[in-house]
Amino acid sequence: MTLNELNPKNRRAADILIANDRGGYTVPSAKLYPFQWNWDSALVALGFSIFDPDRAWQEVESLLSAQWDNGMVPHIIFWKVEKSYFPGPDQWGTADIAHNPPTSGITQPPVAATVIQRLLAEDVDDIDATRDRAAKLLPKLDRWHQWFLDARDPDGLGIVAIMHPWESGRDNLPDWDRPLSFIDTTGVGTYHRRDTDIVNEDERPKNNDYDHYMALVKFGRDCNWDTATISRDCPFWVAEPGMNAILRRAERDLIAMAKLLGMDDIATRAASRLARLDTGFEKLWSDDVGGYVTLDLRRDEYATGLTSGSWLALFAGHVEPKRAGKMATTLSHWLTQVDRGVPSFDPNHELFDSIRYWRGPVWAMVNWMIATGLIEHGETDLAERIRADTEALIEQSDYREYFCPVTGRGGGGSDFSWTASMSLYWASRPTGDVINSPVLTPTTPEQEAK
Ligand code: DGY
Repeated sequence: MTLNELNPKNRRAADILIANDRGGYTVPSAKLYPFQWNWDSALVALGFSIFDPDRAWQEVESLLSAQWDNGMVPHIIFWKVEKSYFPGPDQWGTADIAHNPPTSGITQPPVAATVIQRLLAEDVDDIDATRDRAAKLLPKLDRWHQWFLDARDPDGLGIVAIMHPWESGRDNLPDWDRPLSFIDTTGVGTYHRRDTDIVNEDERPKNNDYDHYMALVKFGRDCNWDTATISRDCPFWVAEPGMNAILRRAERDLIAMAKLLGMDDIATRAASRLARLDTGFEKLWSDDVGGYVTLDLRRDEYATGLTSGSWLALFAGHVEPKRAGKMATTLSHWLTQVDRGVPSFDPNHELFDSIRYWRGPVWAMVNWMIATGLIEHGETDLAERIRADTEALIEQSDYREYFCPVTGRGGGGSDFSWTASMSLYWASRPTGDVINSPVLTPTTPEQEAK
């Protein structure tokens, strides 16, 4: 479909992506986030794929071009000097490690492989050229996914840790409150937050959270982002279902692409990593909470609430029917307690906050991943409810960063790239179109036999 063929609503979403395009990469939101962010960028490629497949490929190519020598793909790439964001390159101190341009020192959920698999499946204009493009990216994905296991699961537990709340992409989830409370923030000093110059304070993390974020940035900078030091000594070392689920899905999609492209070594390595991650993921199941929850690996302590990341277990891979049914029932119950779903945190929990960033609001791209997982587990009605909710929220409050699940009010940044992308790619498409998602790739012989 060309730009001119889009209906007015989709044309407006496309125009947001075009306005946020900085020439080969897209900023999440012009003022609030003026650089390339990792998972934003990958998810934005899906929106571009609707009207400009070449530009969609460029987005993931530019993201992966910033890969570090050790395999990590950073969470922010500072392509240009821009003073309106804090913490910038000086705080991260990666100039000696990152290739030009400087980057942050942490990563973000590796949704890129899943996106690339979709670009590969859908861009049929010139199949050979498309396959060539994908083939160049697969070794990078393979190295990044291997980095997760080497750097963030060196003990072979089968669950990868995050060393900073921002690695999860869900910055101020209540799950981090207790693990962060053990961190000494005395060396942080004074600094000027820029985000609250742009967005209402009650929609952003609190100053106390920022002190902890900055203490962890300082920790990483002081050890020159050395992964062995981080895994051994970092005071924040937490495994959470969202990151682990997205990585498992990414491995599954990498295997599918590697098999398609005859890159057998990559398929074999990814399958072995996936076996470890599939087994390890079960450690995140809590009978007490009744779902997949965050585990503080420094204290062996489970979080007390379900989050929107808990439902990503359905996106990660096969969940046995009894458990998948229980999850769908709990999720349906959540939806009876809010006007529009899916809240990012349990609406029954005392720490639920309907408008403060990741402590309650709805995010379109998480909804897409949850709905995809639900469809793959036969829960099509629930998936459709989530799609319709996403569409309605955007209709009511425009392409905001996120939405209040109780009132539908928009929060955070405006003209937000991944909200526009998810609308174009999924939420504003008629029911049934969602089925264009590739079916879950079987990876074990038992699953293949079914
Ligand atoms: C921010 O600055 O709030 C970003 O979410 C960090 O990734």
